[in-house]
Amino acid sequence: MKQFTFYSIFIIALLSSSCNGNDSSNNHQNELESSEKSSSLNDAEPVSQSHPGKAVYQKYCLTCHQADGSGVPGMFPPLSPNDWTADKEKMIELMLNGQSGKITVNGEVYNNLMPAHDFLSDQEIADVISYVRSSFGNDLEPVSKEEVEAAR
Ligand code: HEC
Repeated sequence: MKQFTFYSIFIIALLSSSCNGNDSSNNHQNELESSEKSSSLNDAEPVSQSHPGKAVYQKYCLTCHQADGSGVPGMFPPLSPNDWTADKEKMIELMLNGQSGKITVNGEVYNNLMPAHDFLSDQEIADVISYVRSSFGNDLEPVSKEEVEAAR
């Protein structure tokens, strides 16, 4: 009888602990789901956060133009709204051919060299230009892969 009591207590303990286990993991999941929901609701910049051109930018442009597109004074011009970001054709040409010599961007003179990025695919070039044109204060329509293809 003693042994029976011992086992039944053991089993009850087991059962209740596994129930608690389930409960707490369910709660945890609910917490996770609700925090995901609220974070996507609070997301102020959903476009640039998930933009396919962001990865291209981080890999090929960030070292010079910086993560926030502010550039480096006197060396790398900023990507905030200017004559280049505003002009699709100028930007496509810049990606394919690079740019060197004196240019003025928002009143600042730069006389440096940007290498060509023609090794990127039409899609990657379209994505990165579209990313720049929708970030750093720019709010312009995207560039398509066909537009890049036509300019090559
Ligand atoms: C090695 C450094 C370097 C890299 C990498 C680079 N750039 Fe540039 N970029 C420059 C320089 C320097 C200039 C100005 C060239 C001049 O002085 O004639 C420039 C100019 C520009 C301009 C025109 C001026 C402006 O500020 O709007 C744009 C747009 C631009 N770059 C975008 C990009 C994008 C997008 C990438 C990535 C695909 C990129 N750059 C990669 C150095 C770089």
